[in-house]
Amino acid sequence: MSADVVNGRAGMRVMWTYIGTGLAIFSLMLLAGILLRAAQAGWLPVDPGTFYSILSLHGAGMIVAMAIAGLGTLWYLVRRETDLDERIAFLAYGFFVAGVISVIVSVFPGRYGSLWTMLYPLPFVGTYWPSWATGTWLVGNALVMLGFMLWCAQILGALLARYGGVRGMLAIDYVFRNRAFTDSGGKPPPPAMFAAAITAFDGFVTGTVGLVIGTALLVHWIDPSVAINPLWAKNLTYLFGHSIANLTMYMAVAGVYVGLPMCTKRAYHTSPQLAVAWWATLLFVIIAYFHHLYMDFAQMQWMQFVGEIASYFAAIPVVVVTVYGGVMLAHRSGMRWSLGSVFLYAGMIGWVVGGIGALLDATIPANVDLHNTLWVPGHFHTYLLEGVLLFTLGWVFVNLEQRADAVSSLLTRWLVGLGMFGGGALFLLPFYSAGAAGVPRRYAVEPPPGPFWASVATVGAIVFVAGFAICVIEGIRLTRLRKSEEAV
Ligand code: HEM
Repeated sequence: MSADVVNGRAGMRVMWTYIGTGLAIFSLMLLAGILLRAAQAGWLPVDPGTFYSILSLHGAGMIVAMAIAGLGTLWYLVRRETDLDERIAFLAYGFFVAGVISVIVSVFPGRYGSLWTMLYPLPFVGTYWPSWATGTWLVGNALVMLGFMLWCAQILGALLARYGGVRGMLAIDYVFRNRAFTDSGGKPPPPAMFAAAITAFDGFVTGTVGLVIGTALLVHWIDPSVAINPLWAKNLTYLFGHSIANLTMYMAVAGVYVGLPMCTKRAYHTSPQLAVAWWATLLFVIIAYFHHLYMDFAQMQWMQFVGEIASYFAAIPVVVVTVYGGVMLAHRSGMRWSLGSVFLYAGMIGWVVGGIGALLDATIPANVDLHNTLWVPGHFHTYLLEGVLLFTLGWVFVNLEQRADAVSSLLTRWLVGLGMFGGGALFLLPFYSAGAAGVPRRYAVEPPPGPFWASVATVGAIVFVAGFAICVIEGIRLTRLRKSEEAV
């Protein structure tokens, strides 16, 4: 067997282990999410303590689920470009699994309930759960961060070596000395490598900050006389929380760069515009979190303005360039609308819609009304559920379809589409309506019109789950199709 085949199999092993784990966690957290929305609708008698415990698990679990799936895809794609040691990927995976188990134990039976981006002095005051549960939660988060940083260090090192340092990895010569660079036979990294590089670089910063605030909280947990500055804690918590939630999108978008060309039989090339757009994300995604602190009068004022500008620059260039490129790739390509290509295409729509919702909230005059209302989960559920998830599923299905050399029936595509896009819309719109009406987020018992909108959303979520279930069954069918062919 050739070295290429052995390498390819190793890459696949890592990718499918990561994606499988991510989607399994996602499926469980989906059920937790429906339970939460049904409780807010008043359909299920869930006491507030249990609500906040499950919300803590759902929030952290979903982000980790999407991240693990995205990291698996990126690892595989980087492995195609350069040598990577599979054992490090599995060591990082071990940290993820240990972290997830620790977080689960902190919630069941620990009943930890102050969410995943809690603000100091939470989670130490007014708790209804034992102190050990707080420690277990913090240790669990730290373990996940350690795994993430291991992944980042491995990928960053590999990309720097492969492209000859930062200049090559970020295509700096390709942008500033384009003619000379291309005439001398130079080639910029393919688009997916920008996603990998930005994830690894910003991820390393994010992970470091997460571990710093996590360690400070752990020290306070061990010795409560060690005080923490709440504003410092909030800055670090949101740099960590905001950035990692955002990075899940930048991980998953690699599926568009590689998956869409597989459907359209056209290449997605790196352009100077694409490189510059990724530079903007590299720089601004780390400081966009300032928009979470608009209401903090103690925060220096200039930071608020930087936060607003950074929010725009982190998102707009890369969305515009990527989506424009994606649409042009599909335009008149004769692409078949299989489940894989539909997911990738629809994911771009979810990314744009969720992004607009986010930018509105990051705009100071609008934030005065929308801050900490249900508008916030509205925008991030849009880009996570109808963006990140769809990119991940798109990538999975494009691969399954190519392996099986088959696509799903029209009926299946319609059922999945109606369930996941129709049900998804019905689930998401109420977040925006209730948010615009001023209903606060993170309330177990919401003021009107919250419960009404929660009822509508619960119906939407159930329809979404039905569509997702059909999608999973279809995925298994395509996988088995390949297996039975191999057996022949
Ligand atoms: C149909 C699927 C889903 C349902 C029914 C659901 C439901 C909910 C509900 C009811 C909340 C609480 C909103 C509030 O009052 O603040 C929530 C929060 C949250 N959800 Fe989901 N969700 C779903 C999918 C997702 C996905 C796909 C992700 C991420 C990939 C996600 C990540 C989060 C996060 C990060 C929070 C915030 C937790 C916090 O405030 O700390 N959810 N979800």
